[in-house]
Amino acid sequence: MNDTFLKACRGEQTDYTPVWFMRQAGRYLPQYQAVRGKVSFLELCKSPELCTEVTLQPIEILGFDAAILFSDILIPMEAMGLVLEFHEGRGPVFPEPVRSQAAVDRLRVPDPEESMPFVLETIRLLRRELSVPLIGFSGAPFTLATYLIEGGSSKVFLETKKMMFQAPELYHALLEKITACTSTYLQAQARAGAQALQLFDSWAGILAPQDYARFALPYVRSIIRDLRAMTDVPIIYFANNGSTLLPHTTTAGADVLGLDWRINIGDAIRQVGDHAVQGNLDPIALFLPRQELEERVRGLLEDARQARGHIFNLGHGIVPQTPPEQARIVVDAVHRFSRR
Ligand code: CP3
Repeated sequence: MNDTFLKACRGEQTDYTPVWFMRQAGRYLPQYQAVRGKVSFLELCKSPELCTEVTLQPIEILGFDAAILFSDILIPMEAMGLVLEFHEGRGPVFPEPVRSQAAVDRLRVPDPEESMPFVLETIRLLRRELSVPLIGFSGAPFTLATYLIEGGSSKVFLETKKMMFQAPELYHALLEKITACTSTYLQAQARAGAQALQLFDSWAGILAPQDYARFALPYVRSIIRDLRAMTDVPIIYFANNGSTLLPHTTTAGADVLGLDWRINIGDAIRQVGDHAVQGNLDPIALFLPRQELEERVRGLLEDARQARGHIFNLGHGIVPQTPPEQARIVVDAVHRFSRR
């Protein structure tokens, strides 16, 4: 077992810097497209055999040091009783947004073994196949809530912020239910064999710091507190666009903080105390010519030298247009330049 990634999460010495990419299993790989051509995205998410296959693809093709379970952050929201659709080119849609107490009351807090057995089965299958650690994940409650309240993706998050500001009790009731669901879901993933857990807070960066502290952070903390009581797997918290939130996110209780590319990684490291860090190459930097791309990687590794632990990653998900050869250049450069 290559445990370099787990060691870096715990701040232990490693022979080299481990690397994986957010969304590493996905549409930029022709091998993923081939599987996806036969089934819808939701059918794919519900087939443990196919999920296992596409999770393994980037490990075998590109040599990443960790695998991330193939699923989606919105799967547990469907298990709460909501209708979830994925529309080509438009992303996720909840045709009946959650905007009333009655809608919140209708939400179930599902038993993961009963309502999402395919996720746990995927984890069990993957653990038999993998020679690198397996990362499980969930969305963070605030990010999940934005999809439920808006009914899908959004630009200004009007409905979410209106609920926060005009109906805070309703907002908190919704967040408590999402938190309960997420908490049991991550615990079930750890029991099934996930060796690290990442919370994706993709939309945290749209909040003013005081609102983040009141409407998002407490729920992340509560999930991490519950996890700590039952497992010692490393916990990664990624608050996208969150460099101005670091004084808050450092109090979430995570082992590792994920960083987007808008902050210099060295500047972030000086703010995060003894957390390890994960990140933070601009996903579009993968379109640089080879030499400049390698120089970027070298510079980033140097800027991260003082970290308690560094896991190389992109600052957000790899985009579907990326040539896989460019990803390969980064993986190889990280391994070569960081060898100690
Ligand atoms: O990282 C991985 O390789 C594991 C799989 C994974 C997916 N989604 C697969 C996916 C993970 C960890 C996610 C998380 C996720 N899903 C997030 C948080 C991370 C982030 O990007 O901020 C969010 C916000 C979602 C919700 C979601 N799912 C959106 C907005 C979309 C549409 C995006 C798009 O580019 O079309 C999805 C669909 C989705 N999730 C795809 C994949 C591979 C594309 C589906 C397809 O094959 O058509």
